[in-house]
Amino acid sequence: MASTIAEMLVSKTRSIIDLYKSVRARTMQIVAPLEIEDYVIQTAEFMSPPRWHIGHTSWFFETLLQAHQPAYKVYSEDYLFYFNSYYEGFGERIARPKRGTRSRPTVKDTVAYRQHVDEQMLRFLASIENKPEASTILTLVRLGLEHEMQHQELLVYDIKHLLCDQYDAPLNPAPASSVEVEGMAEIEGGLFWLGYGVASWGSSLTVREGADLSGARPPHSKNDFAFDNEKPAHQVFLQDYALDRALVSNGDYLEFIRVGGYQNFRWWFSEGWEVVNREQWRAPLYWELHDDKWMIRDFSGQHPAEEKANEPVSHVSFYEASAFAKWSGKRLPTEAEWEKAAAFDPKTRQQTTFPWGNHPVDETKANLFENGLWAPATIGAFPNGQNSYGCQQMIGDVWEWTTSDYVPYPGFKSEFDEYNDKWFVNQKVLRGGSYATPQAHLRATYRNFFHAHERWMVSGFRCAKDM
Ligand SMILES: [Fe+2]
Repeated sequence: MASTIAEMLVSKTRSIIDLYKSVRARTMQIVAPLEIEDYVIQTAEFMSPPRWHIGHTSWFFETLLQAHQPAYKVYSEDYLFYFNSYYEGFGERIARPKRGTRSRPTVKDTVAYRQHVDEQMLRFLASIENKPEASTILTLVRLGLEHEMQHQELLVYDIKHLLCDQYDAPLNPAPASSVEVEGMAEIEGGLFWLGYGVASWGSSLTVREGADLSGARPPHSKNDFAFDNEKPAHQVFLQDYALDRALVSNGDYLEFIRVGGYQNFRWWFSEGWEVVNREQWRAPLYWELHDDKWMIRDFSGQHPAEEKANEPVSHVSFYEASAFAKWSGKRLPTEAEWEKAAAFDPKTRQQTTFPWGNHPVDETKANLFENGLWAPATIGAFPNGQNSYGCQQMIGDVWEWTTSDYVPYPGFKSEFDEYNDKWFVNQKVLRGGSYATPQAHLRATYRNFFHAHERWMVSGFRCAKDM
C-alpha cells in the first residue's frame, strides 16, 4: 500500500510538472506578438498592462517558494510590491489603477524574474516527493496553474482593449454554422445537485413528497480539479423552466438597439439606467457607429454588425443582458438552471462534467482558447457540443450572465485565503467559459463572477422563461 501511494505521488508530480511547463509557456506565447511599448500600457483603471500579468503570475509561485522552499531568498522586495494583486496577507502593493504608471521593472527584468521563478519551481518540484507536505504543495501548484490560466484569459481581454485588430493574433479559420438552432428547451424542475463533486449531506435533507431525487450524484471522474467556490454539491429545487437553445446573437441585439432599447427606461434596472445615461451607452463595448451603421471591432478587424448577425453578442453588462431579456418577454436563467441544462442528462438521469457527457472538451465540441478563433463562433457551429435538450454553445464562445448573486454555496469551506472567499458580495455569476478560456481550465460547475456594470470581459447570455 505504501508503495502505491508513493507511486501515485510520483505520477501526480510528473503530470503537474508537465502542466507547469505548458501553462507557463502559453502565457509567453500570448504576449509574443507584442512590441515592447505594448507591455507597459494600462488602457483603463480596470485593465492591467501585459508586463504586470507575466510578473504577477510568477509572483504567485514565488509566494509558494517562500512558504515551502527552505532558505528561499526573495528575488526582489520591489517586485513583491509591484506584482501583488490584491492579497492583504502578502503585504503592501501598488494600487490597481496605477499598474500602468511605472516603467520599472522593465519587460526584460520581468522576463528574467519569470525565468528565475521557473528554474526555482522546477528544481523544487523535482525534490518534493520526499517531503511530508508533498500533497499540499502539489495542490498549491495546481492552484497557481489554474490562476495563471485565468490570467491568460485576462491577458486576451487586456490585449483586446489595448490593441484589438492591431494585435497580430494567430487566427484560425472560423467554422461555419452547420445547423439551425431554434426555440427553447423545456426542462423539468425538481431537486437538482448543484456544484462540484459528491454531495456531502444530501441524505439528511428533508425532501418534499413527490420530488425528483435524480439519483446519487456521481463523482466527476474526468475532472480532477475544482475551485472551492464550486463546492460542496448540494440540492436545490427548481421549477420547470425553458431555456434558449442558442445564445442571443448580434442580430437579435441589433434589433433591441434599433427599436430604441437603450432609450427606454422601462427595460432597465434603475442602477442600469443610471449607467446607460452616465456612460452614454448605446450598444455593447467594441461597437462603433459609422455613418449610421453599427460596426463591431474585434481581433480580425472592423465588421458591419449585420455581417456578424448570427454570432453570439458579447461585451454586454448584466444590465444590458437583463434589459434585452425583459424586452423580449423572457428573463436570464439562475445559475442552477444554467448548470442543470449544462450537466444533467434526462435520459440517464446522470450528471456529467460537460453538456455532451464526460468526454473531455476538444476543438470540435466548443470554441475555447485552443480553437484560435479569438472571437465567438457562429451560432450552430458546434452541434457536437450540444446537451440532451439541444442547447448549443453552453461551453465556450461567451461567458453567460445568470441572475444569481455570487455567494458561497451552503457548506462552503475556503481552501485558499483571499482567492475566492473575499469576493462573495455584490457580483453576479457567469457560466460556461469563452473563446479566451483554456480548455483545461473549464467544466460545467465553474463559477465566474463580475460586477453588474462590467463588460470588458467576453460576456454574453441566453434567456430563460418560466413554464
Ligand atoms: Fe491573480
